[in-house]
Amino acid sequence: MAKRGGTEYKSEMSDTPDPFTSPFGTLFGDHMTVANVVDGEYTYSGSAQPLENFSLHPATHVLHYASACFEGLKAHRQADGSVAIFRLDDHVARMLISIEKLRMPVPDGALIRQMIVDAVTADVGHTPVNPGALYIRPTFIGTAPNIGAAATPSNTAMLYVITSPVGDYFAGGIRPLTIFIEHDTPRTTPQFGMVKSGANYVMALGPTLDAKRDHVADQVLFATGGDVTETGAANFFMVDNERVITRNLDTSFLHGITRRSVLQIAADLGYEVEERAVTLDELHAWSDHGEMFLTGTAAVVAPVGKVIVRGDHVEVGDGQPGSNTLRLREALTNVQTGNSPDEHGWLTPVS
Ligand code: PLP
Ligand code: COI
Repeated sequence: MAKRGGTEYKSEMSDTPDPFTSPFGTLFGDHMTVANVVDGEYTYSGSAQPLENFSLHPATHVLHYASACFEGLKAHRQADGSVAIFRLDDHVARMLISIEKLRMPVPDGALIRQMIVDAVTADVGHTPVNPGALYIRPTFIGTAPNIGAAATPSNTAMLYVITSPVGDYFAGGIRPLTIFIEHDTPRTTPQFGMVKSGANYVMALGPTLDAKRDHVADQVLFATGGDVTETGAANFFMVDNERVITRNLDTSFLHGITRRSVLQIAADLGYEVEERAVTLDELHAWSDHGEMFLTGTAAVVAPVGKVIVRGDHVEVGDGQPGSNTLRLREALTNVQTGNSPDEHGWLTPVS
């Protein structure tokens, strides 16, 4: 049975809690995989173990100095009932970059890969059908009990993988989101934006909560100094009938794997693909004729219906999900679920 908050959770309606009525990320599989790291050496038992709490010394490095990073990827129920992980190797590669940027001991990518496959194999029965999925959360934390190590990496660490049956990230399913554009406060630092580290998310929390409270926004799009990058949990796109546009990669924001997938799919469908800087003026003007959407493992392809830019509330198109956005979303989810051929080798079968 899926667990909620570490304790057994049973739906009142059925033995299987419904990921579509539970908030994203609050249901869990029964298993986890764990590797311990001592002086750079990784030790993994070689199989999944029951999901359980673990205890940490109050001085543990991650609790004080944020020596943590994570990944977020999904296993999808396929049209034939089997389960496959989407872009497993790309997520492993990004996690290696995050660990390296934290100056922590970088494992062999094959180890992270195996730990993900083992965790998903153990919890494969919890994979909901599309648009649900089994969300996978590989996590890395520095565990040295040392409050003096502010300028020293932790010499012990833990790498673990948990799973979570999920439905929609944005409550209400596919609906037009309201996005507040933040042009003063950055999401994180210019050099750490590409690292999938918890510290980045807590830094984005203040502006996000302010925008929710003051503007009833769903998300904040960070555009420091007018440079449009990403939201707190997804990348940002503009599209019309001919073109797909998103910010070119640099170290200032997360190199989304969904972003990369959508760019490939858009090119395959015949769109012109532009990776380049986008200004606030261009974004404002785009809302007259074009569409906007967010991409992410959790967000999938999420339509934007309204942007709040420099105090103006601007409707994007007619304010409803646009046809190009929905087309790209469907093309992506068809590959993820085996309803379209996996032409780019993005799926790793698990069962
Ligand atoms: N940007 C941020 C800040 C995110 O948290 C995410 C989600 O993972 C993304 C972008 C999208 O990345 P991906 O498509 O790899 O999930
Ligand atoms: C993801 O899409 O995997 C993310 O990391 C978003 C998350 C913060 C829920």
